[in-house]
Amino acid sequence: MHLSWLLLLLSSMGAITVLVGTNTVITPKNMLTTTNTTKPGCQRKCGNLTIPYPFGIGQNCYLQGSFGIICNTSYNPPRAFPVIPYSDFDILDITETQIMIRTTIIASRCQNSQGNVTFETGNLDMWGSPFTISNTANKLTVIGCNNYAVFSGSGDTAESYQRTGCISLCSIETEPVPGHCPGLGCCQDSVPFGWQGFTISLFGVEDEQGVNSIARFLSNQSCSYAFYAEKGSFIFGGASDLTLNNFDVVRNRIMKQLNMVLDWNIKLNTSCKMVKMSNSSINPYLCQSNTRCIDTEEGGYRCSCLPGYEGNPYLKPGCTDINECIAGPNNPCTMACVNSPGSYKCSCPRGYTGDGLKSGIGCVRIIDKSSSALNKFTLGLGISLGIIILLIVAWWFSTIIKRRRIIKQKAINFERNGGLLLQQQMAADESVVAAIKIFTVEELERATDHFIEDRILGKGGQGTVYKGMLSEGRIVAIKMCKVIVDQNQCGDFVNEVIILSNINHRNVVKLLGCCLEHEAPLQVFEFIPNGTLDHHIHSPISEFLITWRMRLQIASDLAGALSYLHSSSSIPIFHRDIKSSNILLDDKYRAKLSDFGTSKSVAIDQTHATTRVMGTFGYLDPEYYLLGQYTEKSDVYSFGVVLVELLTGQKAIRSTLEEEKSLTSWFLSHMENSRLLDIIDSQVVKETSKEEFLIIAEIANRCLNLDRNRRPTMKEVLLEIEAVLSLHLPHANEQIEPKSRQMFSETSNGVFFSPSTFYLENSSSSSADVSLLNNPR
Ligand SMILES: *[C@@H]1O[C@H](CO)[C@@H](O)[C@H](O)[C@H]1NC(C)=O
Ligand SMILES: *[C@@H]1O[C@H](CO)[C@@H](O)[C@H](O)[C@H]1NC(C)=O
Repeated sequence: MHLSWLLLLLSSMGAITVLVGTNTVITPKNMLTTTNTTKPGCQRKCGNLTIPYPFGIGQNCYLQGSFGIICNTSYNPPRAFPVIPYSDFDILDITETQIMIRTTIIASRCQNSQGNVTFETGNLDMWGSPFTISNTANKLTVIGCNNYAVFSGSGDTAESYQRTGCISLCSIETEPVPGHCPGLGCCQDSVPFGWQGFTISLFGVEDEQGVNSIARFLSNQSCSYAFYAEKGSFIFGGASDLTLNNFDVVRNRIMKQLNMVLDWNIKLNTSCKMVKMSNSSINPYLCQSNTRCIDTEEGGYRCSCLPGYEGNPYLKPGCTDINECIAGPNNPCTMACVNSPGSYKCSCPRGYTGDGLKSGIGCVRIIDKSSSALNKFTLGLGISLGIIILLIVAWWFSTIIKRRRIIKQKAINFERNGGLLLQQQMAADESVVAAIKIFTVEELERATDHFIEDRILGKGGQGTVYKGMLSEGRIVAIKMCKVIVDQNQCGDFVNEVIILSNINHRNVVKLLGCCLEHEAPLQVFEFIPNGTLDHHIHSPISEFLITWRMRLQIASDLAGALSYLHSSSSIPIFHRDIKSSNILLDDKYRAKLSDFGTSKSVAIDQTHATTRVMGTFGYLDPEYYLLGQYTEKSDVYSFGVVLVELLTGQKAIRSTLEEEKSLTSWFLSHMENSRLLDIIDSQVVKETSKEEFLIIAEIANRCLNLDRNRRPTMKEVLLEIEAVLSLHLPHANEQIEPKSRQMFSETSNGVFFSPSTFYLENSSSSSADVSLLNNPR
């Protein structure tokens, strides 16, 4: 938008308006009000009447005889009579075009009781004068019953002689209406144009009703009047004006109202053109300078000042310019006014528009208008820009706040999830730093497609496990803990992370990292493809039955891992929740100890345990249950249960109708009665020699000893199982991998552990609390 262009347009519009303003012209002023009314040295007034030239009082004061006036001061107020006594009248008023005269011209017809009729006729004679009788300003009026008035007259020639009149009748039935003259008691009529004289006569109407109608008002007497006078000056009084007693009253009233309007010309029987042509001393052109000549209807001419001029147009030097710009009420301009001959110019100062006229638009602030428009424009622009900026800023702020809140929430989560503890540990032990990767929430969200349902591998009391793929393409299992409300559990989480970071064992599920920023802390483990041991042993629809060789290998792997945890690692670690569902099988069906799919709380719920003893019913060391003291031998007991599971293929809690619901007591009773063969898995019996599973059963028997002191250590167990494994020859039905022995030897060096249920002995306050809680005393 070009603002300069807009301004130019507005200012040019203003200029046009000013031009229009200059063309406006005011009406000329009446010559009677101006100073040069009369000839110098002549009497200006007669009483209240101002006498303008061409009228005048005294010699050389008027144009010609017809305009001469005698002011008779013997009257009070003085009266102005024409010098030439045309008729009986005097002059009441003089304007530029008309004079008002007072006459006594009346016609009457009266009839007395004897039937004698008296007449009176009215006459006006102004032939040869410059005056004509106005036929529009005057009216012929007749008052009376059963009369008609004849009104005859002419202009300045005999040929123009005309007659007119009206009849006034009275009716017995109808009363005349006051103020109305339709022919009932009163009639009115106009007269032809241009008369300079007339005669009025009244005549009686001889009709059948006549006598009666007269009798009604007047008995046999009547009086009628006819007169020609200014329209509206006499108001008919109705029936009262027709009664006998009122004749003289009515007459007197009429006489007072006998005023008549005459038009006047400077000269009749000529025209402006003729006068200008034959301009001579006998017939001079009388219009002075700055005047115009006007041809009149009456056949003469008059002079008038040009517009914008004032003065007497018949007197030298003529009309003079009106200075309209003289300050005062007559100044036509609201602001600037410039007078010019015959005209003036109203203008508006810079920055204003309009015609500048008081009678017109006046002056309106142009700058105000444009600037206000501009202001509105810029204001609107500013407001909308402001709103946009405000929105952007608000959006920006909200995102910052959101981001900050997220960051803050992350920090809060981090702290609550034990991040500070982890940091401490990391600071203390550099190996932790090396082993643990701290993942961001975004990374893990990307890995699991924002934790969608499809990716769930399993759900447990501790949380949900998702299958995920890291950006480098590694498949991982991501455990999302349940939202932690208990601060102690946060300690557990970090504790677990620290423990796992310290363990690097083939038969322990490897912790790759964790994420503490998330609301629920996240752990990232290597992905173990073949599910849990529990599933393979107990699921009746399992496609692939694990062989005795595999079972031995799993027992060996598990014993190795536990042995490692109990003795080999720098601080002894107890798994505390060894069970078949916590043992995962990799692609080669080697065991990986973990706690996936289980948790302390769920274990308690599922086992209907009344105390907060950790572990799973069926695997639980009875001594621990009684004393609340967990030792490495408690792990051994649980391991024994797993061995029995491997031997019998039964669940730790048997779902049978028999009395012995507990697998261990069931197993032990059969051991005592040497009825072991009855309970060994048929698959095992098929695949191996009796010696082998008897040795394993014996190990299990010792592990399940109620006296924990008589249980073997995991190291001892490991050695015995390894011995069996080394002696084991593949059975005819058995499919064995050729490299298994080599793998075994590798494994034998390793140790097992399981993540979340391991505790650092004497180092974890939470475990101490748990011990106290679990102590039945
Ligand atoms: C003025 O009027 C009176 C009464 O009509 C008359 O007698 C007198 O002569 C008049 N005077 C002049 C100067 O005409
Ligand atoms: C009017 O003027 C014409 C010529 O201009 C003349 O013949 C005529 O007589 C005049 N009439 C009267 C009444 O003066």
